Amino acid sequence: MSGHEYTAPVPGLEAVEVPEPGAVTIVVPTFNESANIRRLLRQITEAVPARLPCEVVFVDDSTDDTPEVIRDAAQDCPFPVAVLHREEPVGGLGGAVVEGLKAATSEWIVVMDGDCQHPPSLVPELVATGERANAALVVASRYIEGGSRAGLAGSYRVAVSRGATWLTKALFPRRLHGISDPMSGFFAIRRSAVTAEALKPLGYKILLELAVRSRPRQVAEVPFVFQDRFAGESKSSAQEGLRFLRHLAGLRTASPVARMVGFGLIGASGFVPNLAGLWALTALGLHYVPAEILANQFGVAWNFLLIEHLLFRDRRAHRRWWDRLGRFALLANADLVLRIPLIALLVGRFGMGALPATALALVLTFVLRFVGTEALVYLP
Ligand code: GDD
Ligand code: MN
Repeated sequence: MSGHEYTAPVPGLEAVEVPEPGAVTIVVPTFNESANIRRLLRQITEAVPARLPCEVVFVDDSTDDTPEVIRDAAQDCPFPVAVLHREEPVGGLGGAVVEGLKAATSEWIVVMDGDCQHPPSLVPELVATGERANAALVVASRYIEGGSRAGLAGSYRVAVSRGATWLTKALFPRRLHGISDPMSGFFAIRRSAVTAEALKPLGYKILLELAVRSRPRQVAEVPFVFQDRFAGESKSSAQEGLRFLRHLAGLRTASPVARMVGFGLIGASGFVPNLAGLWALTALGLHYVPAEILANQFGVAWNFLLIEHLLFRDRRAHRRWWDRLGRFALLANADLVLRIPLIALLVGRFGMGALPATALALVLTFVLRFVGTEALVYLP
């Protein structure tokens, strides 16, 4: 938790390393939710402590008076309530939840939103299901029998949510096996199943992050009805959507082999700006040879942008952007210059046919370019 300043936890909540068995820590990320806090804490008070010992940890990035409202409302709660206020919020909603996971002291942790869209009455059931099924993760799902997404306002949001769920399930068929609602923000996880150090949260989809990187061994689901937001408005935005795509790319390319495949796909997509550039430049009357050379740079720039944002997002700090771009462009153009002599060598010295020699040269220069990019552009 170094690097952040937290307001002191409410007395009564002590951070101990040994989890309290059979108890639950409810982690609630909040961003300007002052109008929802009292109602949420009242609902938790009615639904949880009689069935399950609990504590509540708010991880707050608010710019309004939410922390004060929480501390005030906590006076009436029959369980410990803590506020971790982050002065420098990193990782958005997901980053906040990870701070809460680290601070939790119970055997079970339930993550839920602070705007009353997630019914606290389900908290004991999530934990009980986990105990019964001996599961490490229990997801509250809108997409199984008995669940619904009633509170997802508007057909636009429904369509986006559907598409995102489908894409995510297609990208991680094995890791998300048995999870019908990987976009859910409401779930219970065993504290022992959380590998906090391995997590790189980025934005809203913290359940996805946990399912893919912490790999809980057994998962179960419980249906739930996604309620309407009580007060205020959703903080998700188009920018959050872009963040989600970057998050997916980061998760999907965690292994070197997957990263190489991503590199290849991005490289192939570079044909589009390359050809478009060639068309435009020759249409402007440029001779095709300089046009080819210039158009190739369009492809290089396109590839560079995608690679920077999707593949090596967390490895950019060692060099300045123009240094990285220069090195990347050099590698990409060396690739072109190398290919012809390499083909000549394969045909002349090793007696290969022109076609297999070209294919082999393409593969070799591709691997070289990938290895070179990793080692010379994105390593210190
Ligand atoms: N600490 C912190 N920092 N909390 C945040 C941040 C942040 O940057 N952004 C949002 N929150 C809090 C909100 O205050 C709220 O308690 C909760 O996270 C959910 O945010 P909403 O803005 O209400 O999200 P939503 O309703 O659009 O999305 C919810 O439903 C989606 C499914 O449709 C979330 O649960 C998503 O995770 C979920 O995928
Ligand atoms: Mn919400």
